[in-house]
Amino acid sequence: MTTTRTALVTGAGGGMGEACARRLARNGMRVGVLDIDGQNAERVAAQINAEGGQALSLVVDITDRAQVEQGVTALRSAFGPLGVLVNNAGVEDFTLFAEIGPEVWSRMLDVNLTGTYHVTQAVLPDMEAQGWGRIINFSSFAAQSGGPKMVHYAASKGGIIAMTRSLALEVGRKGITVNAVAPGLIDTPMARRAIDGGQFPVPLEQMVASYPIPRIGRAEEVAAAVAFFASEDAGYITAQLLGINGGTAV
Ligand SMILES: NC(=O)c1ccc[n+]([C@@H]2O[C@H](COP(=O)([O-])OP(=O)(O)OC[C@H]3O[C@@H](n4cnc5c(N)ncnc54)[C@H](O)[C@@H]3O)[C@@H](O)[C@H]2O)c1
Repeated sequence: MTTTRTALVTGAGGGMGEACARRLARNGMRVGVLDIDGQNAERVAAQINAEGGQALSLVVDITDRAQVEQGVTALRSAFGPLGVLVNNAGVEDFTLFAEIGPEVWSRMLDVNLTGTYHVTQAVLPDMEAQGWGRIINFSSFAAQSGGPKMVHYAASKGGIIAMTRSLALEVGRKGITVNAVAPGLIDTPMARRAIDGGQFPVPLEQMVASYPIPRIGRAEEVAAAVAFFASEDAGYITAQLLGINGGTAV
């Protein structure tokens, strides 16, 4: 028997979050399309609904606890208790360490790490009540390999790895798994901003040429891994970090 689950995907208005929302909807889940960008959240939810899926757009800044609680309540009212959480929303910035001001540092940690804390804490009670849950967090290869001008970003994504493992130990007995993905360079608006902004030391073609799979990754390839972690089949996999990076050395 397949149970229809309710899933929440943060940052689902574009990039990998959009790909995850669409993939989970195709797999038969009811999906909350959460984004700080309301227009994009509505666009993605409307497309999923038009294609026969079930989606609800939620305009939420994940750094704001009250907005997060409101969004989760709205999703629960529409689609029932939440069973799957994809903590994908994140921001990136390229600044030399010495020049990272306290506001930039704090915003990075607020969105990428504390935002994940807010959403996870808001959703966990539903999973505990059902005795079933799947949490998938977004880290980054930058947390594994490091990256110049990315100390704040890498620190936030390293925190995600530590958070994933620790929470997995706490909630495993409640039927909840917690895993993380560490994408390499994936073709999304975020990556395009970095490439077009000249943030990498060499051109894209030269950079990917050294990868065992010598190309940029696709958002759908990350979504496929997320969908597996979210599935019934992945019930014995927890506290893991999966690199989706074309074999890039980390
Ligand atoms: N693209 C890459 O190469 C890459 C590599 C490694 C990790 N990542 C991580 O993967 C995740 C998705 O990245 P992407 O490339 O799809 O990014 P993206 O910028 O294309 O999309 C991110 C989405 O998150 C939303 N968002 C940002 N701040 C938010 C907030 N405070 N509240 C709610 N929504 C918010 C944005 O509006 C956007 O729709 C991020 O956590 C990112 O750090 C990306």
